Amino acid sequence: MKTLLLTNKTSDLQTAADLIRSGQTVVFPTETVYGIGADAKDPEAVKKIFEAKGRPSDNPLIVHVSDRSQITDVAAEVTDDAQKLIDAFMPGPITVILKKRPDIPSEVTAGLDTVGIRMPSNKTASEFLRLCGRPVAAPSANLSGKPSPTRFEHCVEDMDGRAAAIIDGGPCDVGIESTVIDMSGEPIIYRPGRVSRGQIEQVLGKKVSLAASLKDGEKPKSPGLKYKHYSPKAKVVIIKGTLDEAANCVNSQTRPTGVILFDEILKEIKPKLKDGVICLSLGGINKPDEAAAALFAALRKTDELGAEIVFAPEIPDTDKWAGVRNRLYRAAGNEVREASEFAESERSDVETPIKNILFVCSGNTCRSPMAEGLFNYYAKERGMSVSAESAGLFVFPGSKVSENSVKALAELDIDISGHEPTQLDLELIGGADLILAMSGSHKSAICAAAPEADGKTFTLKEYAGAVGEISDPFGGGIEIYKSCMLDIKNCVKKIIARLDDHEN
Ligand code: TXA
Ligand code: MG
Repeated sequence: MKTLLLTNKTSDLQTAADLIRSGQTVVFPTETVYGIGADAKDPEAVKKIFEAKGRPSDNPLIVHVSDRSQITDVAAEVTDDAQKLIDAFMPGPITVILKKRPDIPSEVTAGLDTVGIRMPSNKTASEFLRLCGRPVAAPSANLSGKPSPTRFEHCVEDMDGRAAAIIDGGPCDVGIESTVIDMSGEPIIYRPGRVSRGQIEQVLGKKVSLAASLKDGEKPKSPGLKYKHYSPKAKVVIIKGTLDEAANCVNSQTRPTGVILFDEILKEIKPKLKDGVICLSLGGINKPDEAAAALFAALRKTDELGAEIVFAPEIPDTDKWAGVRNRLYRAAGNEVREASEFAESERSDVETPIKNILFVCSGNTCRSPMAEGLFNYYAKERGMSVSAESAGLFVFPGSKVSENSVKALAELDIDISGHEPTQLDLELIGGADLILAMSGSHKSAICAAAPEADGKTFTLKEYAGAVGEISDPFGGGIEIYKSCMLDIKNCVKKIIARLDDHEN
């Protein structure tokens, strides 16, 4: 897809609004983070958002409105308490969850009977939304699993070729996503943000609870809670200890290393660090708003500069730091380590034997069933004890394995006609020793959905030691499918040879 890169001039915003009205997706700035929007009442348009992001379709989207009168186009009822929050904080960085109107499609709410409503205060966002003239469903415009985009460049990096247009609105002021509060029952904050719990309690005149992080197996009320978010490619580690312990820990790393620290600490630690350590700022030590504005850009920058491990400081467990703490700690898998111990605990990774491989693509109708068929065929030929399954990130009910995939494999006498497309779930992810995705966005979606996939999920090409991705043959003729099949076969054979060496 050719993506239009637009400015925030009115004529460009009109172009963008026309795209929304014709069922396309547009990336637009808000005061929190950039969002990727589509007409909230057009299910086909909304599906394009999930495809662009590689986002699991059980995570609902929030609906953006340009003014208060539009709220009743989205919510079935606005309770008195919800109205108080709307009056106090909208437009601004808050999302209020209310009972939805029946005409908000289930694609937006992932089947829930509630909907998140947000009215951005960013000038470009309000003008764009006003020109759209209808509610716009929009999640953050990152590829699923990556940190939310807070700069135009982040959006181009993630969404060029995936959205119809991207509007340049410069850097986002707030830098972390809106506070999400459920007002459809007893108020509960699902995601802390710039609008703090204290401010909300003051307006409502009562205590408000904060959703705890989930324990294993618990079903989240807000689906976003179960996904690992905000993680760059590098491993993020929060360390505590003295300045010298922190410096030792950083200096003892053998991988390319970054630090993201408060200015005051950076100034003191820099002279103690070895050459080549990437040093990025979180702003002033008493400035939560500066840290919020800097955080996601810093996490993305460490990736760009090639860091494989990134150290960050502890964040105070107080109301005004809650948003930053939540984002940074999730990126770090909620673990705080002693700097002194972490320096010594550089482990050589113990390899576990691989018995079950899971191939993953979008719909489990073309690429991953071909990979499964090829893998099982060649593994059996060698008498190996490893076997493969496949699954898709978004399997539409009733879909079937594509005819051209069946034909392409039939030429090798491999029969996959009986394959039934299977929805990827946590159980399949948990049961696999190795997960091989067809593209980088599949890989990030899998790791976002399940933290335990981290470290055992690769793209097929990456694991085979090749570059690029397995491109989607969907909709193409038999020749396209055959060349896709050969591409997969080359990778699969390399992987099998490697695993077989290991088995013997
Ligand atoms: O600041 C923001 O909120 C940005 C900008 C673009 O507006 N948007 C954003 O959207 O961060 P998203 O989709 O990345 O995050 C929305 C969060 C998700 O964690 C989702 O699970 C939760 O809100 N959510 C949305 N609708 C919900 C509902 N009806 N019930 C519970 N949680 C909901
Ligand atoms: Mg998001």
